[in-house]
Order: sequence, then C-alpha cells, then structure tokens
Amino acid sequence: MDDSAPLPLQPKLQILKLQARGEEFRIPQLLGNLFICSPANGNCCCGRPEKGRMPFDNRQYEQEWEARHLRARVHLTFSGCLGPCAVGNNALLQIHGRSLWFKDLNQPALIPALFDYIEQILKAGQIVPPSSLLQGHLYERYIPTTPAEDDPLAVLSMPTPDADGAERLDPVCFMDVDPATAKHFVEYQGRTIYFCAPSCKRLFVKDPAAYLPT
Ligand code: FES
Repeated sequence: MDDSAPLPLQPKLQILKLQARGEEFRIPQLLGNLFICSPANGNCCCGRPEKGRMPFDNRQYEQEWEARHLRARVHLTFSGCLGPCAVGNNALLQIHGRSLWFKDLNQPALIPALFDYIEQILKAGQIVPPSSLLQGHLYERYIPTTPAEDDPLAVLSMPTPDADGAERLDPVCFMDVDPATAKHFVEYQGRTIYFCAPSCKRLFVKDPAAYLPT
C-alpha cells in the first residue's frame, strides 16, 4: 500500500435504488459514517468548556472532511449525545461494518489525526491499527461477536469487560459519579445509588425498576 498516494477525488458511486412513500429514490452506498457529538444538538458534555472539554467548533471537522474529499465515501454527522458522556469529547466512526469509538478528543491535533486514520482505512480497504496519537483514544464500546484473533485492532490495549465500579454509574445516564463527591443520591434496596444531576434522580425515583438491571 502506498500511504502517500492521495485518494481519488471522485470514487465511482455505487447506487442503491430504494422505495419510500411509494416512490423510487437513488442513494449512494457509502463506506462509512463519522458521528461527532455536538452541543448544537442538545448534548450535556461534549464540546462544553464549562465541563472541562475542548470547545466545539464544527468547522474543524467540516474543513478536514471537505479538504479530503470524503463526501462520497464517509458521511459526516453532528449528532446529539452518543452515550459515554464522561469520556467525551466523543466520536463514533462506522466503517467497513465496524463501529470504532473515540474518546477524550480534547486536543486540536486529534481532529486531523482522526481524519488521517479514516484515510488510512480507506486506502487499505480494511480496518488498520490507528496512529500512536490516536491509540489511547480508540476503544471498543460494543461487545464484540468476532474472535479477537481475527481483529486487527486486538493488538491495542482494549479495555476488558470489568464490572468493577459499576455501582458508581448513574443508572439513568451511565455517567461515572464519584461517591465521595456525589451531591445526588438515594438509598434503594439497601444500597446507595448515585446520580450526576437532580433530573436523573427524579427519573429514577419515579420508576426504579426501569433503570436497574433485572
Ligand atoms: S454528551 Fe457527548 S456522548 Fe453524551
């Protein structure tokens, strides 16, 4: 593989014909989608300096995406909350059938590094290990169903499933709450349950069974 070779500007589009509302539409079939958690869509933490995160600027992502001519290969979406708020700024890259999660994108240099990685995957035509800059930011959020020995990312120190500390999680939003400093909590069935905010506590108190695993 020649890493220095640019991606062709206009890849040959593969077109899907889909029916919707009784009409036929054509849409390009893509290789992936990059989702960026954006405060513009009502999230709680990512991109919010008051929460200690790098301020969000959608142009940082848009300029990289446009400059690399990724439009016909990887769609760019600014989303609402992706879920793991405690480790944001967060991004999710779905590509070649995989979901690659990125956390703690709180340095400007990580944004071009993320797009470099997308280009490396596209050039290789498969998932490849990330650069050293990104390694500590990539993790596996979904429980894998394929054997690790076939996974090119298994060489990374992926987090292992571990229930330690599960009692620290706000059961409503899954935010990691430090019991030593938690301001919002209730006693429920002999244990203390911690919340990140009064809104989570209210939801829990209204219907605890909806939030605790059976
Ligand atoms: S606010 Fe970004 S993942 Fe929840």
